[in-house]
Amino acid sequence: MRVTVSRKAHFNAAHRLYVKSWDDAKNEAIFGKCSNPYFHGHNYELIVNVTGTIDPVTGYVMDMKVLKDLIKVEVEDAFDHKNLNEQVPEFADLIPSAENIAVVIYNKILPHLDEDKTLDIVLYETPRNFVKYSG
Ligand code: NI
Repeated sequence: MRVTVSRKAHFNAAHRLYVKSWDDAKNEAIFGKCSNPYFHGHNYELIVNVTGTIDPVTGYVMDMKVLKDLIKVEVEDAFDHKNLNEQVPEFADLIPSAENIAVVIYNKILPHLDEDKTLDIVLYETPRNFVKYSG
């Protein structure tokens, strides 16, 4: 019996979507406003889902305090109020699209989970646009 526990989190961050080898006109054509050279921000909403078996002693799949602290250290402290392109090393050579941010978050959290657990990440870039990554 596998059960999913979920924790919501939030961060604000700025980004710019552009391909360094393209000129501004092509970046504007492909990415539109998201290619604005002066960057722009999003209020990202994150849902971290951890699936595993229930520990018969604690009744927990995972201690939510541990998950909360993990998200704080790996995501909120790392991304909140940051310029993702310029201040977060994972995006030095990786476009900080919602898709790539979700993959980076997954890769930062997964090593801290017990091996029998599976992880999936849902990341809202706007209330209507969101991505999911499950490895
Ligand atoms: Ni954007």
